[in-house]
Amino acid sequence: MKKVYVTRRIPQKALDLLETECSLEVNPHDWVLSKKELLEAARDAEGLLCLLTDQVDAELLDQMPRLKIVANCAVGYDNIDVPACTARGVAVSNTPGVLTETTADMAWALLMAAARRVVEADRYVRDGKFKAWAPMLFLGQEVNHKVLGVIGMGRIGRAVARRAAGFNMAVVYHNASRITKEEERELGVEYRGLKDLLQEADYITLHVPLNDQTRHLIGAQELKLMKKTAYLVNTSRGAIIDEKALVRALRDNELAGAALDVYENEPDLAPGLDELDNVTLAPHTASATVQTRTKMAVMAAENLLAGLNEDKIPNLVNTELEL
Ligand code: GLV
Repeated sequence: MKKVYVTRRIPQKALDLLETECSLEVNPHDWVLSKKELLEAARDAEGLLCLLTDQVDAELLDQMPRLKIVANCAVGYDNIDVPACTARGVAVSNTPGVLTETTADMAWALLMAAARRVVEADRYVRDGKFKAWAPMLFLGQEVNHKVLGVIGMGRIGRAVARRAAGFNMAVVYHNASRITKEEERELGVEYRGLKDLLQEADYITLHVPLNDQTRHLIGAQELKLMKKTAYLVNTSRGAIIDEKALVRALRDNELAGAALDVYENEPDLAPGLDELDNVTLAPHTASATVQTRTKMAVMAAENLLAGLNEDKIPNLVNTELEL
């Protein structure tokens, strides 16, 4: 049977699926393996089911000569050197679609939590400070009837935009390419240049993949353009924001607050970030529901099996390998 290595324990349903066809080995530890550990464990694997915390680069690939497929259990695949995989004929797959709505839900959860100061208020109640209803206690900002700015109008950006209708918000978006007029009408969104969006929106939410074009898309200059009353929400990848610049901007009250699920040097935070009251922080859990994480793992397993069996891989990233 073909050898498959899974870099971290994932939902059992996916492991069961792999076990029917492969000789399966799973990282027994509840931690991210170092490159050395990963290599030692997976050197002769033909299939690698990995997570966004694993770096798959040329150095690793060169020492895994039997590898046919890297099945990432995530929609983002910036942890994988795709050109290096393609050059070696190694397929790369991801898990699009199944986490779209779940991630959109979390972007909204963070947006609402930040605007209405839910986390600060929770701490206050737990600390026994809530003595009586008070007219000026934890005043936040309105969400309804405000302007939502969506940067990145792919699957997740669209799902986030759709939810805004329930809050009677106006939605503006920015994307590398404009979507069609019909799509704009159906979603109730208007296109803006990045600068205009930053100046206009009350809530800005990021839904672009991380690549050379999007790294530090939001830096010191962009943060300065935001309204002082605006909030920034990030459920995409940390490095889309220059996190040090964000800490400075939040400290200087250039914007009202931020709600982050992802960090530039995950799991480390930029110095000072966790000392600020106007940030809401989550540990990269936007897709973390029982249902969605199971679907993602099963999808990754199905991609992997297709790769090993030389079938059409449902979510192949380096599609040039098909040609
Ligand atoms: C999570 O961040 C993912 O890319 O699936």
